[in-house]
Amino acid sequence: MFTRRTSALLAASAVVLISAGPAVAGIYTPGSSGAGDPYFPQAGNGGYDVSHYSLTLGYEPASKQLTGRAVITATATQNLSRFDLDLRGFTISKVQVNGSPAAYERAGDQELVITPSSGLRVGRSFTVSIAYAGVPRVVTDPDGSIEGWVPTADGAFVVGEPQGSPGWYPVNDTPQDKATFDFHVTVPEGLTVMANGVLVSHRSSGGRTTWVWRESDPMAPYLATATLGRFDLTVSKVGTIPSYVAIDPTLPSGNVFRKLPQIVQFYESIYGPYPFNAVGSVADNAPAVGYSLETQTKPVYDRMPDETTVAHELSHMWLGDSVTLRRWPDIWLHEGFATWSEWIWSEHNGQKSAQGYFDTLYNTPASKTSFWAPPPGNPGDAAHLFDGTVYDRGAMTVQALRNKVGDDTFFHIMRAWVTQNRYGNVTTSQFIALAEKISGMNLDHFFDVWLYQPQKPTSW
Ligand code: TRP
Ligand code: ZN
Repeated sequence: MFTRRTSALLAASAVVLISAGPAVAGIYTPGSSGAGDPYFPQAGNGGYDVSHYSLTLGYEPASKQLTGRAVITATATQNLSRFDLDLRGFTISKVQVNGSPAAYERAGDQELVITPSSGLRVGRSFTVSIAYAGVPRVVTDPDGSIEGWVPTADGAFVVGEPQGSPGWYPVNDTPQDKATFDFHVTVPEGLTVMANGVLVSHRSSGGRTTWVWRESDPMAPYLATATLGRFDLTVSKVGTIPSYVAIDPTLPSGNVFRKLPQIVQFYESIYGPYPFNAVGSVADNAPAVGYSLETQTKPVYDRMPDETTVAHELSHMWLGDSVTLRRWPDIWLHEGFATWSEWIWSEHNGQKSAQGYFDTLYNTPASKTSFWAPPPGNPGDAAHLFDGTVYDRGAMTVQALRNKVGDDTFFHIMRAWVTQNRYGNVTTSQFIALAEKISGMNLDHFFDVWLYQPQKPTSW
């Protein structure tokens, strides 16, 4: 609603009226080409909000050809004359909006610009369908790591943090636009596809198998996977929900996933109910990737993980997947919290305590500046997103908070954080505000020293 004064001003100038245009009936403008993240300004798009992705994919490991059709359901958040999706590479054969052919062009590294035959009205839902094919190109990040659709000896390791999802599907690639997903993936018979959520069906005919998975809880697009290859798949239950554990038979055997139910139960005791309706793990043989990822409901591992790594990734289901950052510079809200979660799992098992981990790390001399900088709350740029400080000094921040406010208040803060922000997006200042509210303390200096000052904290 405009105040009288504002509407008088607007009425006085047609130019102002047009630039204020999106909400004004009759004026249709392009959605922005990026969601404006400080580290990945072109990732994500403006002007609409996705509610669902339906991805129908076919993959041939021998030729590395991916054939895809994406049907995306979205709602316009402005009167849209055109809008972008993020997609890297591929040849597009057809784009339709609400069932009618739409014009499209490619721009920059990752923009697919779609112009529907008529404008899309604010508040209305629409569907966009894109048919595409090609050999996916692996995405290399500013820190040199690889992601996206990464070929393996027998399939593909599929990960999208922070910007690999457009390497395999057209997407509004911002963590702020969560949506539900379904996946229909057809592969040569004998291969297994592991996507997010629950397994709906798998049917073979003519030498191929179609795997259908459904993620019915909101998911940030970077957490989608369709990792595929030769796997031994074990379906069981953790509590009342299905659990899917897939292990590449070429990996050395291990039993680390037997701990999965206890780990989930332990984090439920701290962070509240497990947020999703499926759980699991995918251990692939993809050591060139060099990291694991907390893909929603079933983290993927590039090798046989150790128990600490499994605990880390499972804790991300609450901290990262259900409660997700709004902007990438706040990555410590994921990695610092998940690293602290490793520590508390160890403490719970009567092994090294969280304080023990803190003390060991705190002994690192101030002169070892590469250990203490960049500060976890401000990694500086995308090349430092996953630096050691984000994990270690981030976790030390959590443990230091525990000491500062005491266990009762601390565990109250952690649980409230996860409960209040379930399926949401968050910022560091929201965490600070919640910690201050629950503790009744002014923690500005504390968090400034731990999160934002580049040198070793000495008093807080
Ligand atoms: N989020 C992952 C984890 O800690 C790690 C990760 C994702 C990563 N992408 C990366 C690490 C790129 C280094 C480089 O579980
Ligand atoms: Zn992590």
